[in-house]
Amino acid sequence: MIRPPTVEVDRVVLVGFMGSGKTTVGSELARLKGWDFLDMDHLIEERAGLSVAEIFRQRGEPSFRSEEARLALEVAALQRHVIAAGGGAFAMPDTRSALQGGAVTVWLECSLETVLARIGKGEGRPLAASRETIRKMFVERESAYRLADLAVDASPEPGEVARRIAAALEARGAWRPRPRG
Ligand code: S3P
Repeated sequence: MIRPPTVEVDRVVLVGFMGSGKTTVGSELARLKGWDFLDMDHLIEERAGLSVAEIFRQRGEPSFRSEEARLALEVAALQRHVIAAGGGAFAMPDTRSALQGGAVTVWLECSLETVLARIGKGEGRPLAASRETIRKMFVERESAYRLADLAVDASPEPGEVARRIAAALEARGAWRPRPRG
């Protein structure tokens, strides 16, 4: 379901829980449409010269969140980009509103069981060490993810999810970049 007319956006931003497939679906979606792909976590890692796990360990989660919020403002200037946000980004109000401007936001919705299976032991994901924490965050974040413009079932294989998103956006004319004023 897409809420009010989504037309002429500069970016498609994929949000959703860890393991929902934002990176794989996002790069496939970008490939399908000939847009550029940007993974926010990867860019944060590249700039810091540290993995997300190391950033959490050495600098703490608040430092990661402020980097994420800064990057969300920065990517708001990009055109013709598909962007994969980290799983916590859309749950942070300032980061969320930066991601929403001029973009169509897409929630990759999947079940807790799917997420748990895909995350496995949570290697490289500092907030996924305990299944109990995952369960709690999964419930807490749902209301934030629901604020996305479009929700898609993220349980099929990534190529299929990307095709479904492309078709839904195509139907709304959302792929046309916004005319510059
Ligand atoms: C996080 C999800 C991770 C990464 C960081 C925090 C979260 O991204 O941003 O470990 O708070 O859910 P993925 O959703 O790509 O795993």
